[in-house]
Amino acid sequence: MLNPKQLFLVLLLALCSLSAWARPDEGMWLPMLLKQLNETDMQKKGMRLSAEDIYSINKSSLKDAIVQFGSGCTGEIISNQGLLLTNHHCGYGQIQSHSSVENDYLTKGFWAMSKEQEKPNPGLTATFIVRMEDVTKQILGDIPSNLTEAEREHRITTNIKKVQYGATNGTHYGAIIRPFFYGTEYYMYITETFRDIRLVGAPPESIGKFGGDTDNWMWPRHTGDFSIFRIYAGPDNKPADYSTNNKPYTPKHHLPISLAGIKEGDFTMVFGFPARTTEYLPSQGVSEIAEISDPAKVKIRTMRLHLLEQDMLADPKVRIQYAAKYASVSNSHKRWIGEMRGLKKLDAIAKKQDLEKQFAHWVSQETGRKSMYGHVLPHFEQNYTILANDISLTRDYYQEAALGVELLSYAQSFLDLAELIQKGYQTEQQKADIQTQIKGLLDAAPAYFKNYNQATDKKVFASLLEMYAIDIAYKYQPEALKKAMEAKKFTWASYADKVYGPSNLASLEKVTALLKLSPNAIKAKLLADPAVTLLQSFNNVYQEEILPVYNQLTEQNTLLNRLYLQGLREMQKDKKFYPDANSTLRVSYGKVEGYKPSEDVTYEYYTTLEGLIEKSGMTEIPDYRIPDKLRELHLKKDYGPYAINGKMPVAFLASNHTTGGNSGSPVINAKGELVGLNFDRNWEGTMSDIMYDPERVRNISLDVHYLLFLIDKFAGAGHLVQEMNVIYPSSQPDPVVKKESVEIKHKDNIFKTKKKVKIDD
Ligand code: ARG
Ligand code: GLU
Repeated sequence: MLNPKQLFLVLLLALCSLSAWARPDEGMWLPMLLKQLNETDMQKKGMRLSAEDIYSINKSSLKDAIVQFGSGCTGEIISNQGLLLTNHHCGYGQIQSHSSVENDYLTKGFWAMSKEQEKPNPGLTATFIVRMEDVTKQILGDIPSNLTEAEREHRITTNIKKVQYGATNGTHYGAIIRPFFYGTEYYMYITETFRDIRLVGAPPESIGKFGGDTDNWMWPRHTGDFSIFRIYAGPDNKPADYSTNNKPYTPKHHLPISLAGIKEGDFTMVFGFPARTTEYLPSQGVSEIAEISDPAKVKIRTMRLHLLEQDMLADPKVRIQYAAKYASVSNSHKRWIGEMRGLKKLDAIAKKQDLEKQFAHWVSQETGRKSMYGHVLPHFEQNYTILANDISLTRDYYQEAALGVELLSYAQSFLDLAELIQKGYQTEQQKADIQTQIKGLLDAAPAYFKNYNQATDKKVFASLLEMYAIDIAYKYQPEALKKAMEAKKFTWASYADKVYGPSNLASLEKVTALLKLSPNAIKAKLLADPAVTLLQSFNNVYQEEILPVYNQLTEQNTLLNRLYLQGLREMQKDKKFYPDANSTLRVSYGKVEGYKPSEDVTYEYYTTLEGLIEKSGMTEIPDYRIPDKLRELHLKKDYGPYAINGKMPVAFLASNHTTGGNSGSPVINAKGELVGLNFDRNWEGTMSDIMYDPERVRNISLDVHYLLFLIDKFAGAGHLVQEMNVIYPSSQPDPVVKKESVEIKHKDNIFKTKKKVKIDD
């Protein structure tokens, strides 16, 4: 028997290891630092891979199956013929661009039944990370600490160009160098970007966007949010422009897909390109977001969405035109609402204040610290007070209300053109530059107007500008607006008529006619155009009175944040810090688990087709309509090999720290196999961009069972599943159990071991 003291020790130990195990993980980690910072922890949490299996420059590794899809999403390679999986909402623009009222792939879905039917997407890219490197020394090594922030920036830019050039000169690779920890460290990512990416398949919107904006950011969730593309390469397997001679890309690695099923507590990781987080803001920075910026942006977008929705419901043409725009306006709108609530519930401002108190105390303990960090917190306070006095709000209104009007944001490139012509039209260079701009605008116009409805935009104009006029201080009102409002019998609708009627920028015909004139005539017309002059007037206020103050304060805050974080890292020596997301490749890890959204409610960690069918019975919600075919498959339980115990899993929750940009990221199990496709976060967890809460932050993923079922059974595109490396339950022994022997046998690729075994339906 243990004596009480021993028993206590054992219990304490158990408790410690339990809490270490049970604590879900905050953090978006750098692939090349996993070995040093995370490997042990990840393995303790159940991972059966090594850091080298995830990121390696010597052999193929998981990272070779991950791409940045376009500029904002993630994708992963799931076949040895370059098949790329991402979200429906990531491929949305492409699916929409191939659609028309007659051939509406948004509504009907699209499936290429052979490679010839795959559809090219000019401009779309997929970027692999070849390797990454710590370049802090090359970037900061020769920079003295006594420079002003502007001088420092200048020297850094020069160094970055030098290092980029050295790394890529003479190759087809690119190099991205970004600051981490507010510019304390610099890392370089060597990239390989493919340019011939073709659409292979997408389910109908009623599946790919099931739940639409009603369910967006929410759990329980039943969205089949995926689309499939294929990367094509030149004959040498290198990136090439679109050509019918290109062939499917052969990847260094593609993810096997596991149908073994997941259970609560299973290790998961997410590999992708999270775009932006700000986890190290001071309390005032959090309050600026939670109390000024988020509420203002939400208010403006609520109005804009309401107006778009009215017109989309009234006219199917407008519905298609504005589908993608609506989804994107609504997406952040809802996220900001969640973020405000989440920060409040978490008492984020008070938590930050507590940390600041600790910091102040720590600083006060040594004179060295005092001279280094003593000014940081008071200076933050000063800067945020100025921002909170109109600057921040006016900036939000300029961006969300003024530029929320399509005519005004469209006018910006025309204003740029007019200013370019004004600078001179003499030298060959000037002429060439101007002609390039004109051609660019001419080429882009048809696509812009294909998705533009003047009547809708006019309503947005009237309402949003009225909001600006009411909510923004008089001194920040544009002159043009003040003058317009003085007119007799002024109404916002009549003002819209006065701007849109004579403007050359409100229809394709007028824009085309305008751009065919001589540069001088174009300039004259543009500088007299009511849309251009109104934009100019907004710009005057913004660029002369708001932006300079905002930029100066932000620059100072960056410097302060650099110091603050440096100090925090000194103060909390044992804590592992991860850098804020900055659209570079990261790994997050956690486990499969549900959560409690509120006191008396508990959520399961998964949803099923049963639940989806039940939701679809709520016929008053158009977002829940589903195709008959899906209903039939469910009735017949025609699930093929994709069900688990007769049920079809649809989506699941896990505690991986993710953000925008992680859409389309693979959710990978302990063995390196794909189990899910990340597409969202829970609403209660959206404040994780600013402060993470292990109790409530969850990422939402599509389950691979539903994915393969939809491709095979629903779309009849089983040939694509054949292309993939699908691992059916109990079809082979666990390849990683005898770790050493596996690694010795398959030295350069531990993933090569698996054979495709198909079991009967
Ligand atoms: N909330 C997800 C993300 O941030 C999905 C957005 C697209 N879906 C939508 N209904 N708007 O990207
Ligand atoms: N849907 C988001 C995206 O497009 C991911 C959700 C999130 O912000 O975590 O990246």
